[in-house]
Amino acid sequence: MLKPYIVTVSSEKGGVGKTTLATNLAIYLKALCEDLPVTLFSFDNHFSVDRMFRIGRSAPNYDLTDMLKGIPLDQVLQVGEYGVQYIPSSRHLDSVAEGLAKVDALASILAASSLEGIVIIDTRPTLDVFTRNALFASDRVIIPVKDAPSLENCRNLYAFFDAWGLSKRPLRVLPCLIDSRIRYEGPFKNAQQLLRGYAINRGYRCLDGFIAKSPKVESLNTNPEGKIYPILTYGRGTTVHSQFAHLARQVFIGLRESTERRLEEISSRQQHDLELRQAARRQRHAELIRDCLICGQSLADEDPFPLPGFFCQTSDGTVAGFLEEECFAALVFRYFYQAQKEIPAGDPLRELFRESARRSYFVLRGHTAVAGTPQLEFFRFDEEGFEISRKTLDLKEFESRFLSREKSRLYELAARTLFTSDGLACERFLLVRRISETDQDILAEEPYRRFAAMMQAIARKLPLEQAQQD
Ligand SMILES: Nc1ncnc2c1ncn2[C@@H]1O[C@H](COP(=O)(O)OP(=O)(O)O)[C@@H](O)[C@H]1O
Ligand SMILES: [Mg+2]
Repeated sequence: MLKPYIVTVSSEKGGVGKTTLATNLAIYLKALCEDLPVTLFSFDNHFSVDRMFRIGRSAPNYDLTDMLKGIPLDQVLQVGEYGVQYIPSSRHLDSVAEGLAKVDALASILAASSLEGIVIIDTRPTLDVFTRNALFASDRVIIPVKDAPSLENCRNLYAFFDAWGLSKRPLRVLPCLIDSRIRYEGPFKNAQQLLRGYAINRGYRCLDGFIAKSPKVESLNTNPEGKIYPILTYGRGTTVHSQFAHLARQVFIGLRESTERRLEEISSRQQHDLELRQAARRQRHAELIRDCLICGQSLADEDPFPLPGFFCQTSDGTVAGFLEEECFAALVFRYFYQAQKEIPAGDPLRELFRESARRSYFVLRGHTAVAGTPQLEFFRFDEEGFEISRKTLDLKEFESRFLSREKSRLYELAARTLFTSDGLACERFLLVRRISETDQDILAEEPYRRFAAMMQAIARKLPLEQAQQD
């Protein structure tokens, strides 16, 4: 099944006829090809779509906001008048703006749905996240312009396509709301010719024809029923009627000739990215040490890591693994808080540590002593990468006279990650991060990227501070 052909009507200028264009185009397309599924929705909250297409008076259960929140499209889609299906408009769109922060979010939703045929999207007169998502998903973008300022506004739309490295082929300017009575002397006889001339001069492609300003169209949304009537049925015989019919034919030809749909292209790229991410995660997982780096307790094949616990990795990426919460907490109490004895479970200090660990990154770094005992620096950083505290500790276990004695937890961890067996410090540090309940799979793309970013931020800081200290 071919994914639907997406048409967005967009202009940063209000009152240029976007909504009139989107809604009537849907009807003309349906009239042109009865078998073509036509779907319409609007990011504008004027409810024009609903006033035009809603059958009956009862309010729908779901609207566009629900669709963007993940409610399946077949529950949101309404059968509307004139054979057009529509998604009810919403007043609460801004509550889901964050979900569209990624420019291909809408494309993913539409691609995952069972939509076919053509989808027409009406937009707000701004380049907000909703418009950006619609543009990104589009096979055709119709830009109504009614005067020189609205043509000026096209610049940002073109810049958006440039910024994303997208082909500008989908973009088409259409002179709208043209007052046919106004005539000029000179090469351009009227407003539509003048606008077309300006557009072509700037390298913008235009659709054939234009939409005239018509008192008939204006009258269609003012009536006692509070409905908006379509040009197709109420404007027969008018100029705009034939102009809309001509526009619909052009859009239809575009659809019929499009072999590679934008949604196909986006979803196959997303699939490819997903495979790359999965492969990267498998690689990270394969390189893990599978026991607690402090006590040696086996994790067997636990994936993701069990909670509660800490993930750690050396700055050169050579050692990555897991620390049980008990082990690491005991280590911090002993060496950071200088607690003389074990802190029992249930002690408020444990809860305090758990709380602060949520917002911390811990760093351990070894130092080879020229003469004497190897040392370990122990830092705590906050989530912005600011150093909160640090301690320098002796690792006496490396000295031969202490070799036989029981090894401390700190030694176990340091020896496995930061020192050679001779007690020489490797040129790297160890970053330790508590695994959170919300991001339990710390090896997944997003959480791991945050971890790696902190690794880099700290790598930039540590040598610098070292130099200052010396
Ligand atoms: N071809 C037209 N002739 C006359 N009035 C029109 C025409 N197209 C739209 N209008 C009117 O212009 C106003 C703005 O149109 P609308 O489609 O809401 O623009 P936008 O969505 O760009 O803000 C509306 O009152 C509408 O009825
Ligand atoms: Mg509008």
